[in-house]
Formats: sequence, structure tokens, C-alpha cells
Amino acid sequence: MKSENILVIGGTGKTGRRVAENLTQSGHNVRVVGRKTNPAFDWENPESYDAALKNMDRAYIVYYPDLAVPGSRDAITALSEKALKAGLKKVVLLSGKGETEAEACEDIVANSGLNYTLVRASWFNQNFSEGAFLDFVQNGVVALPMPEARIPFVDADDIADVVSKVLLDDSYNGQTITVTGPQKRTFKEVVGIMAEASNKHIQFVPITIDEFKEGMKKAGLPDSYVWLFGYLFQEVLGNPDNQEVSDDVAKVLGRPAKDFEVFAKETAATGIWS
Ligand SMILES: NC(=O)c1ccc[n+]([C@@H]2O[C@H](COP(=O)([O-])OP(=O)(O)OC[C@H]3O[C@@H](n4cnc5c(N)ncnc54)[C@H](OP(=O)(O)O)[C@@H]3O)[C@@H](O)[C@H]2O)c1
Repeated sequence: MKSENILVIGGTGKTGRRVAENLTQSGHNVRVVGRKTNPAFDWENPESYDAALKNMDRAYIVYYPDLAVPGSRDAITALSEKALKAGLKKVVLLSGKGETEAEACEDIVANSGLNYTLVRASWFNQNFSEGAFLDFVQNGVVALPMPEARIPFVDADDIADVVSKVLLDDSYNGQTITVTGPQKRTFKEVVGIMAEASNKHIQFVPITIDEFKEGMKKAGLPDSYVWLFGYLFQEVLGNPDNQEVSDDVAKVLGRPAKDFEVFAKETAATGIWS
């Protein structure tokens, strides 16, 4: 395949970093952007979008912190318009499974005139190894709400492999790909799996959403972040749609999605939970 110029927005994050690695290894010219790169890209500053998009053929779009927050629609509208003007051939937007608030942004991309694929992801395994819950696992106490939710946690490696494929393959244009792991698991179950894999005592403590939000406030996190986590627990994990397993990873990649047990073994071996 001819080498293409590919923009990875959020390219230092959990999925973007892996997408950038995949595409670089396949011989493409990858431009990773975030707030500290050159050119710098800041979702808060639409003027920064042009330099990032210049001379690019395709783009992977990771919005931060989440497509559900106020301001995301304006940002996604501006980026889509600028991407169309810059002549991009295709974009892939990362969205959240069961996140109805994100659908407005999906629609903006779908109606932008760009070729696109939407990738809707379930909650990531890597929230426990690279994200918001790493500290809890390291400290041996995972206190989270929604103990009844059965979540088809998905691995960021699988998301990245799917994104890398559909971004380059125009037969997926206009499609929505739903990426989940192969099994639904509660927080208590995944904590048990991480404890066993790392041979460490890790306790799961069920708490209410209000208690979780109170803890975030006490830790000094901004109100917008506290609101977002409340929304993600209540609306997203509470949405029965989010508790369904999809076989799209296997369909796109021709291999099964990675199970949480495999993720836990691989991650424990790195020593990060010790
Ligand atoms: N975690 C989950 O379980 C889950 C599930 C479904 C969907 N999602 C979606 O995944 C997305 C996050 O993806 P991720 O986990 O791969 O990323 P991530 O690990 O959260 O990393 C965020 C990336 O965005 C960049 N960034 C942060 N603030 C920025 C700003 N103002 N302007 C431009 N770039 C900024 C960061 O780089 P700098 O800090 O250097 O700028 C970094 O590259 C969100 O849209 C979320 O809704 C997450």
C-alpha cells in the first residue's frame, strides 16, 4: 500500500499511541498531535487545528476528555469543516458505546461531507493500567460505584488494531464499529482477576456514585471532571446497551478480542501493579 500522511489527534494517549505505532510500523507518515507537540493541537483553540491538518490524508480523532462534555460539538464541527477544506480523504472518530450524549458529535462527522468510520468503544481495560483507576489498583483498594454493572471491557490494543485497519480501508466508510471485549464482567470480577494475576491483595469496595464524586472533589479534581465521571457511571454503565458484547473486533480483525484475563497477565508482568 502507498504510504499515506496520517494525523493522530490524542496520539500520546491510550489508543492514539497504539494507533500511531501500528501505522508507523506499516510505513505510513504519522503526525501525532496534542497540546505539547509541534505543531501543537489544542481542542480549546480551533486556530491550532489548521497546522495539524495541513498535508494530511487521513485522521484518527480522539476528543478529550469526552464527546459528552459541553463544547465538544463546536470543536468537532470546527475540526470537520477544516478537515474537509484541507482535503482529508477520511477520518475515524473514537466514540463511547452506550453514550447517547456522544451521538450528536457522531452525527456532525457523519454529515460533514468527509468519508468516515465511527468506532464506539466500551470501557477500556487500560483504565486500570494507564488511566483513572491505576492508583486504586496500586494502592490495593478499588472503590467504585455500579457494582451491578456487567461491562464488556475492551483492550486498547484491539481498539487500535481496529482503528488502524478501518482508517485505511474505505470499505468501512459510513459504518459504525462497536468494539468490546469478549465477556461482560463486574468491577468485583475484574478486581479479582487483577489480584490473582499480580499475586497481590486488591480489595473491591462498592460505593455510591455520590461517594465517588465526593472523593474526586476532595482530591481537588475540577467540577467538570466530577460531573463527567458521574455521567459515565450513571448514564453509560447504567445503559443496558453498554452491557452487550459485540463481535465487531473479531469481524474486522479476523481474530478474537483480547480477554481481560490476558490483559491482566500481560500487565501484571510489567510490574506496574506491584
Ligand atoms: N477510557 C474509557 O474507558 C473510554 C471508553 C470509551 C470511549 N473513551 C473515549 O476515549 C477518549 C480518550 O481516548 P484515550 O483514552 O485514547 O486518550 P487518553 O489516554 O485519555 O489521552 C488523552 C490524549 O488527548 C490529549 N489531550 C488532552 N487534552 C487535550 C486538549 N485540550 N487538546 C488536544 N489534545 C488533548 C493528550 O495529550 P496532551 O495531554 O499532551 O495534550 C492525550 O494524547 C475520550 O474521547 C473518551 O470519551 C474512553
